[in-house]
Amino acid sequence: MYCCTGIAKDISWIGVNDRKTERFENYMPLPFGVSYNSYLIKDEKTCVIDAVEFGSASLYIEKLLLGLDGKDLDYIIINHVEPDHSSGLKDILRVFPNVKVVGNAKTLGMLRAFNMEFPDENFVTVKEGDILDLGNHKLTFAMIPMVHWPESMVTYDTTDKILFSNDAFGGFGALDGGIFDDEVNFDFYIDEMRRYYSNIVGKYGVQVTAAIKKLGGLEIKMICPSHGLIWRTDIARVISLYSTWAQLQPEKEGVVIVYGSMYGNTAKMAEILGRELNAQGITEVKIYDASKTDHSFIIAEIWKYKGLIIGSCAHNNSVYPKVQPLLHKLENYGLKNRYLGIFGTMMWSGGGVRGIEAFAEKLKGIEVIGEAVEVKGTPKAEDRARLEAVAQEMAAKLIAER
Ligand code: FEO
Repeated sequence: MYCCTGIAKDISWIGVNDRKTERFENYMPLPFGVSYNSYLIKDEKTCVIDAVEFGSASLYIEKLLLGLDGKDLDYIIINHVEPDHSSGLKDILRVFPNVKVVGNAKTLGMLRAFNMEFPDENFVTVKEGDILDLGNHKLTFAMIPMVHWPESMVTYDTTDKILFSNDAFGGFGALDGGIFDDEVNFDFYIDEMRRYYSNIVGKYGVQVTAAIKKLGGLEIKMICPSHGLIWRTDIARVISLYSTWAQLQPEKEGVVIVYGSMYGNTAKMAEILGRELNAQGITEVKIYDASKTDHSFIIAEIWKYKGLIIGSCAHNNSVYPKVQPLLHKLENYGLKNRYLGIFGTMMWSGGGVRGIEAFAEKLKGIEVIGEAVEVKGTPKAEDRARLEAVAQEMAAKLIAER
């Protein structure tokens, strides 16, 4: 029998792990799964904070009923309407048709857009600082628009100083036994958290920074996000990481080299760059073939490191089709605070290198390192020297910041 996991007096984690879905938002791979976290407070009034994704409904409702142990459900708080959290509301409404649905002024319209049917009078509109009194637990709310949708908000339990942060401070990765940060080796979760942050919330760094500032005034003993680990020990670390990511500041010295190559010539150039970077003392060099590694992993690595070198062969006078979407995403996210090197191959009219240069022009917070290296066909001895010069300049820039 599945049980609920107590996380504080009267409060349980009733979330579910999803190891079945192949791709989050139907495009980002989930090799390690994902959790949809939901929390139940059993006080004089009962309250669920955030539901789960609809595919997990049967287990979720089973856990909810076990947790309630015969009590009725009074409230369900919808911190965020995106279906990975709110679609399970349909199942809750089937079992508890009279439950009060709690959200802000933007929430109801969005729920209606997803055909959530319940009487208007069962919707409780809350605004910043309002109190929902459950008895012992007094919950309040803070709006954090665009983290990650306009209606996003967080719920704060003023009694136990617990922040129910929804997408903020969440990450990919199913919870394999441990659910608290101090119960696991969380380096793995940090990688999956970075991948979640950079790909999903990455565009909204300004809003995330504003949210961190706003929530910074709260005494927080536990952060309960809607995906991934619950933070109760290393809270300062997770807030600091989030702040770094939101400001698009790299975490580490190191270089990501990503390339698109049809016949291996651009790949050869990437190898030369990587070898020379290492020879210059850069120990963290990550080389990715954009045709093979899913871009969500590459973007997470780009978030981590200060150096970036992008290469493309020419394809129909343009950037290679497996590199172009990566450029589009980085431009869309407004990547900044990075050093960028450019390389690629051509045969007659080029286009790969030109396209990356055009991308670099648009990103104002990027510093292009050295001359772009474009090679006709296979790199020759003189091309090796040009590539090594880019690697040396990149390494010198990074080492100067030690
Ligand atoms: Fe986990 Fe923006 O939804």
